[in-house]
Amino acid sequence: MKLSVIGCGYLGAVHAAAMAELGHEVVGIDVDENKVRALAAGTAPFFEPGLPELLASGVASGRLSFTTDMSAVKGAQVHFIAVGTPQKKGENAADLTYVDSAVDAIIPFLSPGDLVAGKSTVPVGTAARLAQKLDDAGSGAMLAWNPEFLREGFAVEDTISPDRLVYGLPAGDQTAPARELLDTVYANALSRETPLVVTDYATAELVKVSANAFLATKISFINAMAEIAEVTGADVTQLADAIGYDARIGRRFLNAGVGFGGGCLPKDIRAFAARADELGRGESVAFLKEVDSINLRRRQRVVDLVVDSFGGAIFGKRVAVLGLAFKPDSDDIRDSPALDVAVTLKGLGADVIATDPEAIENARRVHPQLAYESDLQTAVSGADAIVVLTEWKQFRQIDPVALLGTVTTPYVVDGRNCLDAVAWRAAGWTYQGLGRP
Ligand code: UGA
Repeated sequence: MKLSVIGCGYLGAVHAAAMAELGHEVVGIDVDENKVRALAAGTAPFFEPGLPELLASGVASGRLSFTTDMSAVKGAQVHFIAVGTPQKKGENAADLTYVDSAVDAIIPFLSPGDLVAGKSTVPVGTAARLAQKLDDAGSGAMLAWNPEFLREGFAVEDTISPDRLVYGLPAGDQTAPARELLDTVYANALSRETPLVVTDYATAELVKVSANAFLATKISFINAMAEIAEVTGADVTQLADAIGYDARIGRRFLNAGVGFGGGCLPKDIRAFAARADELGRGESVAFLKEVDSINLRRRQRVVDLVVDSFGGAIFGKRVAVLGLAFKPDSDDIRDSPALDVAVTLKGLGADVIATDPEAIENARRVHPQLAYESDLQTAVSGADAIVVLTEWKQFRQIDPVALLGTVTTPYVVDGRNCLDAVAWRAAGWTYQGLGRP
């Protein structure tokens, strides 16, 4: 099939490359010329395992192209909207400017019978409004909402082999042709019996935000238990293991630590709460405000631990921050707890030196005031404290004995509970996890 993907960020670029890999002919459109130039040359403009290979083979096959010229979507049967829906400045609601401008820009190039398929995470009610917009313009195109559940770091795998597909389709007789088009797009996944939920617009939009709200709640639940563990001497990691054995609870997403960040979970729960308020149902998801507060308190907890370790006198102390990305296998620093903690420590007067295998350049662009060092050994050299904030494999595998000679004070805060506390203590370190004795 001939497809177009509007918006080539973490979501769109991966979707475009994966669809080409599956045999479709795909054109990706973005307003950012630098990004388009990189993608068109078969290079990934951000770090995502497996993406460079897919881009290179897609571009070489001639099935994958990228441009800033919207008219290139002409002739495609399905047009995916994959632009960002960031948090509005100074508000909790989602900013839909990019979604609306993408739809406005594509309208002149649509043919009757085309399908516009929304992938961006949007407040419930958006799809119905956009469908009306397509109708008002007399485009003859249909609209579907087809949320995406990919995780950064596993984006290629999640797009090629999704754990489920959701189609939010228009009511009435338009359902059949829209569904047929999506079934052809996803023929590969459907042939492997991937679960498919065919539903209406509102349900499809809500599936996406409620999934992220549930995940955020699960993380904040275990972080709340960590807070209780901290005043009782209990160990939250053992608690998570023990409750996780209950299949109804499950161990995944029960890792207590510095909390969740990224371009999705934090802004999605805020946008959901804001939308529920607009709908007069604010109380139904009022708990999400608590989920957000618990999450942000964990960042402060890490800062407090470091400050307290110096008896409050943090000024001029050398603190090595290990991790800047919001999670490992990503260079994404959007709402990253790690970067937030690094910036706060620096603001308190610490001599912060930060390292990360992939995210230094992105972090430097936003926070040039921090000192960055790509070499781990150099970063920790002479440190009065080490703070691990992203659980990269490189950090989990550090040999605490070998590191001992490099630092000034053997003090480590494990903000992701990802180090072997017993081994670090045995090596002579003062080890402090989160929610652990
Ligand atoms: C999240 C969802 O997991 C995806 O399903 C969804 O498609 C995506 O948002 C999206 O809306 O596009 P992602 O932002 O890539 O994916 O990251 P997650 O793997 O969900 O991790 C989010 C944050 O939670 C990270 O900062 C991570 O470190 C933190 N986390 C995760 C914990 O603190 N504890 C855990 O146990 C798990």
